Amino acid sequence: MSKLPKRDGAWRVAVIPGDHVGKEVIPEALHVLDAVAPLCNIPARTECFPWGSEHYLSTGSVMPQDGLDRLRDYDAVLLGAIGDAARVPDAVMSWGLVQRVRKGFDLWVNLRPARLRPGMISPVRNAQSFDVVIVRENTEGEYSGAGGRIHQGFPHEAAVQTSIFTRSSVERVVRYAFDLAKSRPRKRLTSVTKSNAMNHAMVLWDEVVSEISRDYPDIRVDTAHIDAMVMYLITRPHHFDVILASNLFGDIVSDQAAAIQGSIGLAAGANLCPSGTVPGMFEPIHGSAPDIAGRGIANPLAAILAVSLMLQDFGEAAAADAIERAVDEVLVDGNVRTPDLGGNSSTRELGGEVVAAIGGRST
Ligand code: IPM
Ligand code: MG
Repeated sequence: MSKLPKRDGAWRVAVIPGDHVGKEVIPEALHVLDAVAPLCNIPARTECFPWGSEHYLSTGSVMPQDGLDRLRDYDAVLLGAIGDAARVPDAVMSWGLVQRVRKGFDLWVNLRPARLRPGMISPVRNAQSFDVVIVRENTEGEYSGAGGRIHQGFPHEAAVQTSIFTRSSVERVVRYAFDLAKSRPRKRLTSVTKSNAMNHAMVLWDEVVSEISRDYPDIRVDTAHIDAMVMYLITRPHHFDVILASNLFGDIVSDQAAAIQGSIGLAAGANLCPSGTVPGMFEPIHGSAPDIAGRGIANPLAAILAVSLMLQDFGEAAAADAIERAVDEVLVDGNVRTPDLGGNSSTRELGGEVVAAIGGRST
């Protein structure tokens, strides 16, 4: 059954531009959402939430205390980027919004597709057919948040950061990754592990992968320790299809996959609770990039592709495909590129080019 809007006969999208380049790329993403409106079966309405570092500095919290309840009724959250390290510690910002939404809504899959798009040159050889989807466990593991610090201010100060792997949580994400692999032509799944050193949690992870693999005899499964994985991703990028990883390992390989695509400015992710009624959260995976913020040169394509992932989640396949094709077209054309893509165009110019490519086709 395809998804339906929660109310009002429209997709309701809560938009959180956030900090620094988040505020620069999200307007372009929203222009693109407008441009594909004629291709949507159900209209989308957006509402903006000014949460992030300013909110933290004026109220003491990155999002309001009842923030999750205010988001709950939406069909999706579109996030720009959160982070302002010069003024607020990164961990405060991340736990104040990104982790809070991921955990609070039990968005247990973090889906991060990466492929070498036409017109892009990878910094890595053999990447011509690079086309992967990373399935990252998104609620626990190394990011469980369990732990604490004691003896602060003394030489014997200690910090404990506990990884938690729950069988049921591992099982659901492993099964999700197998189902995804089954739906893709190459039918390969690579599980990222480190069970040679992490002799409890990662051994459980491997056992679950092995058990569930029996239900998917048509999927070719391999496992790679994270250290070898980051090597293989560079030396044999064409080998991989679905990559299944824990929270931290998925974080690491997704930045690497983004680099293989040619720029992290092209990488988008979807935080999903596939069985739930909560909104998914869609985001460019780059951060708030204070180093380039304010110059209007951030690449808006990752935010634009986050809109495509959101529309896919809504079941608006025609609109999502139109965005994917427009982005590819603009990259192949190559005349309008932000500096990360080797050009000198602005965020607005590149966003406008995608809108024009969509408009050119739908008229
Ligand atoms: C990501 C980011 C976050 C993560 C940070 C901001 C905590 O790097 O979404 O990949 O590690 O999950
Ligand atoms: Mg990351």
